[in-house]
Order: sequence, then structure tokens, then C-alpha cells
Amino acid sequence: MSMESSSTVLSSSLAVLFLLFSFTQAREFMVGGNANSWKIPSSGNGSLNQWAEANRFRIGDSLVWNYDSQKDSVLQVTKDAYEHCNTSDPIAAFKDGSTKVALHRSGPFYFISGAEGHCQKGQKLIVVVLSPRNGAIVFAPAPAPVALEGPAVAPTSGGHSLRNGFVGAFAVLGCLFAIVLL
Ligand SMILES: *[C@@H]1O[C@H](CO)[C@@H](O)[C@H](O)[C@H]1NC(C)=O
Ligand SMILES: *[C@@H]1O[C@H](CO)[C@@H](O)[C@H](O)[C@H]1NC(C)=O
Repeated sequence: MSMESSSTVLSSSLAVLFLLFSFTQAREFMVGGNANSWKIPSSGNGSLNQWAEANRFRIGDSLVWNYDSQKDSVLQVTKDAYEHCNTSDPIAAFKDGSTKVALHRSGPFYFISGAEGHCQKGQKLIVVVLSPRNGAIVFAPAPAPVALEGPAVAPTSGGHSLRNGFVGAFAVLGCLFAIVLL
């Protein structure tokens, strides 16, 4: 396989990867898994974080909270304020009853309830957003395009290698859909 055709396969594959990666971005997560989860957890401290640990958050995803705005709120805070349930100086405060926060960077985000005493009783949440590199590992496989052409097949024209590129790209697309559907 010539340099040219392998770079066509590679760039097509990367284009498809990039497209798929952007399509699979922007998901919304209802905090706790359902609409009534932003409250003092009845099933023990840390149950909101158990929910968070069971999910993979990526840059571009959003968290959504629904709660009674008369009785509760969502505070985005520092790690220190999270640990001490300090509600006095949040990074951001949301009190509208229907809060959406975009996870615009990788790393940890800390949230606590602004209602008196709720954080101390476990109404708090850490969401860790994967770095783009970690996220990409999920979509990493696909040596398929190389295997499709044997080493003996030399591309004879630009059109031919372009077609190989498309075949490769579709193979990658197929693999990726299989992965996404799993
Ligand atoms: C959570 O922990 C606090 C003290 O750390 C305790 O007062 C509270 O009862 C606990 N809540 C549950 C549901 O276990
Ligand atoms: C809470 O945080 C504020 C601002 O960072 C700080 O001034 C205050 O001392 C903290 N309170 C407690 C009880 O840690």
C-alpha cells in the first residue's frame, strides 16, 4: 500500500471518527437518573455519587436538575466547599427549579444543595468529565481498513485509492456503530 493511499484511508477514517465523536457528544444527564433525585438521599450517603460513577461524562454533555425552587437549589462549588458543605461563596448558584449545566471542560465538577443542612446529609455530587484523550480510547480500534487491501494490492490510480479510502471509512463506520450500539 502506498503512502498516499494509506494516508487517504487514514484521513477518511479520522474524518469519520471525528464526525461520530461530535455526533455522540452533547448528551443530557438527569442528575441521579430521574426527576426527583436532587434531594437528601434516602438510600445512604453517596448515592448521588454512585449514580455519577456509573456514567461516563464527556466534554459537551450537560447535567440537568429538576427540583422545587421554593425548597432547594444547586450550587456549583470548589472541592474545599464541597468537602465542608460550605454554601457561602459558590462558583455558581442555580435556584430556578430546572437547572442545566454544560460540562465545558474535563476534570471534576462539584455540586451541593443550597438548602440548609441538605449537603451535610449527603445531597452533594461530584461529576468527573473524561479528558478528550480518555474519551477517544473507547473509539480507538479499527485496524480493518488496512486488512481490507492485502499487502500485494498496489493502487493503480488516484480514483482507486480514493475508493479504498471510502471502503475503509465505511468499515470504520460499521465498527463504530457496532461499538456505539453495544
Ligand atoms: C449521612 O451522613 C450524615 C453524617 O455524616 C448523617 O447525619 C446522616 O444521617 C447520613 N444519612 C444517611 C441517609 O445515611
Ligand atoms: C466558607 O467559605 C467562605 C468563602 O470561601 C469562607 O470565608 C468561610 O470561612 C467558609 N466557612 C467555613 C465554615 O469554612
